[in-house]
Amino acid sequence: MSLKREGKVRLRGSMKKIGLMTSGGDAPGMNAAIRSVVRNAIYRNMEAIGFRRGFDGIIDADFCQLYSNSVGGIIDRGGTFLETARSERFLTARGQEKAVQVIKDNNIDGLVIIGGEGSFKGASRLEELGVRTIGIPGTIDNDISGTDYSIGFDTCLNTIIDALSKIRDTASSLERIFCVEVMGRLSGEIALNAGLAGGADFILIPEIEYNFEEMCNTIIKGFDRGKSHILILVAEGAAKAYDVAAGISLVTKKDVKVTVLGHIQRGGSPSAMDRILASRFGGAAVEALSSGIHGKFVGIQKTEIVLNDYSVALKRKHEINKKMYELTKILSI
Ligand code: F6P
Repeated sequence: MSLKREGKVRLRGSMKKIGLMTSGGDAPGMNAAIRSVVRNAIYRNMEAIGFRRGFDGIIDADFCQLYSNSVGGIIDRGGTFLETARSERFLTARGQEKAVQVIKDNNIDGLVIIGGEGSFKGASRLEELGVRTIGIPGTIDNDISGTDYSIGFDTCLNTIIDALSKIRDTASSLERIFCVEVMGRLSGEIALNAGLAGGADFILIPEIEYNFEEMCNTIIKGFDRGKSHILILVAEGAAKAYDVAAGISLVTKKDVKVTVLGHIQRGGSPSAMDRILASRFGGAAVEALSSGIHGKFVGIQKTEIVLNDYSVALKRKHEINKKMYELTKILSI
């Protein structure tokens, strides 16, 4: 089969059957989004089909019909019951051809794709091949342009501040310095927001250069002034916490402890904010598809649901709030 535009999937006039999948890294709240998509589809007399394991599941035609009760009791569960994958096969023309064929053979009129930037790249490719898609931002990283928040970010922040409180207990008992590494890929959103909420003394993010010498001097002065502990939050995209700790230890002559929070940041029952966001996104995605809108992703801006072209997420770099970063510095004096 050729992948030229004339080889587009022939879609029926109205949306009767929609497919749904989660892709990329899982994020708490994805299940709540699945539930919302399925029930909004059923409410509009559409069939809902769930693909397992992201784009791989489409290629393998691994799907199941989803009913209202299939998504009962999942609003509070982390992860994604449809499972997810970072599909290598979908990056190839052969994989894409196969996916389009499966969608066509199964009369799927539109596809809801829940995931991050990589998933939107896939969605955008499917659009080029004639498949109608709508994206839902689901990633703990909150690094997607065009939406203030993505599903999973809030829960992730709550997990981190819970961990920071525990670390602070032991750090202050022993007057220690701790470097805590958090996820976020190339974005400092997680570190910045968790650092502000968790009262970190220093936040290292990839978007803003930091002065290592100045940080060490401030740490020394802080202890001289009677500070009982120092918490440094390191975004994985900025540096490795172990390297930062070794450097500080060398200059300050103090023992520096390291905690790499890792994948616990992606798990857990979604927060109320994430469940609300996911439910709203799911409703908006189905509403868009059923009114003929596709090739876009839903988002939230200043509490209102918005729709943006995939290009907004794919071409524009997500900006962090520099004023907020300045505030974290003031609050840590
Ligand atoms: O995109 C979500 C995320 O958790 C990033 O913060 C992190 O860099 C990456 O996924 C880790 O991916 P994996 O679980 O595949 O190692």
